[in-house]
Amino acid sequence: MKLAVIGGDGTGPEVVAEGLKVLAAVAEKEGFEYTTQDFNVSGDRYLERGGDPNSPSIDVISDEEIDELRKFDAIFLGAVGHPDVAPGILEKGLLLKTRFDLDQYINLRPVKLYPGVPTPLADKKPEDIDFVVVRENTEDLYFGGGGFLRKNTPHEVATQEMIATRHGVERCVRYAFELTRQRVKDGYSNMLTLVAKTNVLTYAHNLWQRAFDEIGDADYPDIKRDYNHVDACCMWFVKNPEYYNVIVTPNMFGDIITDLGAMIQGGMGVAAGGNINPEGVSMFEPIGGSAPKYTGMNVINPIAAIAAMAMLLRETGRKLGEPKITAAGERVEKAILATTPKMDSQSARKMGYSTTEVGDLVCEAL
Ligand code: IPM
Ligand code: MN
Repeated sequence: MKLAVIGGDGTGPEVVAEGLKVLAAVAEKEGFEYTTQDFNVSGDRYLERGGDPNSPSIDVISDEEIDELRKFDAIFLGAVGHPDVAPGILEKGLLLKTRFDLDQYINLRPVKLYPGVPTPLADKKPEDIDFVVVRENTEDLYFGGGGFLRKNTPHEVATQEMIATRHGVERCVRYAFELTRQRVKDGYSNMLTLVAKTNVLTYAHNLWQRAFDEIGDADYPDIKRDYNHVDACCMWFVKNPEYYNVIVTPNMFGDIITDLGAMIQGGMGVAAGGNINPEGVSMFEPIGGSAPKYTGMNVINPIAAIAAMAMLLRETGRKLGEPKITAAGERVEKAILATTPKMDSQSARKMGYSTTEVGDLVCEAL
C-alpha cells in the first residue's frame, strides 16, 4: 500500500503521527507492506512562500502535487487551518481542490458513540448512536458558482448557486444503497434515509428524490427507503439518534448535520471522515480542525485520526482486493473500542492520557 501523508497545520502532524504508529503496529501483525510519503502542504507553507494571508494569491496545493497524489493508493490528512490565514483560502485551496480534482464524490462520516465516550445526550448509549452519513462531496452549493453585481454599492446583488446533476446524485445514491446492503450483512437494518428539503428546494431536491426512488425501485428492492427533511433530521439526531442507519444527503446539508453528528458521538476528537472516490484516490481525515492553541502540547485526542486510519485501511483493502489490509482496518476499529473505555474524557487536556499515550494504548489493544 502506498500512502501519501499530509500532516498539515496545528495539531494535524501530532495526530497523524499516532495514526501512523498504529499503522506500523497493525501492518506487522497482519503481515502487509506499505510505504509512506510526506507532502508538505499547510497554511504555514502558504505563508512562508509569501502567500497573502487575506486573499488567495498562490497555490496552497499545486496541480503538480495533485498529480503526484494520483499515484498513491490513499491519502492520510491531519488538519489544515491557520490562525493567520483568512477563512476560505486554505479550505478552498487544499481541501475542496483535492476533493474536486480527485473526484472524491463521497464524504463518508460514521457517527458512532464509542464505549466510555461521554455524549451530551442524556441516557443515550453506544447502541443508540451508530449510523453513517453519506454526504455528496462535489456538487450542491460547494461547486463555487455565483457572483456579485454592483459590488460595494447599496444596490449590491450576490448570488450563490446550487447544482444537482443526475450523474452526481446517482453515483452518490447508488453508493449509499450499496453501503446499506453491506451493513445489513453486519446486522444493521435495511433502512436508508434521504435527508433533503424537497418542500422548498423544489428543483435540485426534486431531482434527488426522483433519482433516489427510481434507483431504489429498479435495483434495490431489498432496501427500505425513508425520507426526512433536514430540519426534522436535526431534531431526531438529538431526540432519537437510534432511528438512523444510513443517511444520504447533498453536500451542504451533509456538512451541517455531520458536525451535529460529531457532537453527539462525543466531539471532534473522535469523529473521522473519508473523502472517497471508489474508483480512484481517497483521502481520510479526523474531521476536527487544527486546534492551534493545543499545538505541540501532546494533549489532543488522536482517536479521530486513528479512526480515520481504520477507515482508510478498510476502504483501501477493499479497493486493492487485499484482505490483510481490510482485516487491519477491522482490527484497528476493535482496538479503538477497547481503548476508549480506559480514557476519562475525550476532549483535549482531560483525557487522562497524552496524545502519544493514547496511540500506545491502541497499539497495545491491537
Ligand atoms: C468539512 C469542512 C469543510 C467543508 C470546510 C473546511 C471547507 O467543514 O470537511 O466538513 O465545508 O466541507
Ligand atoms: Mn464541515
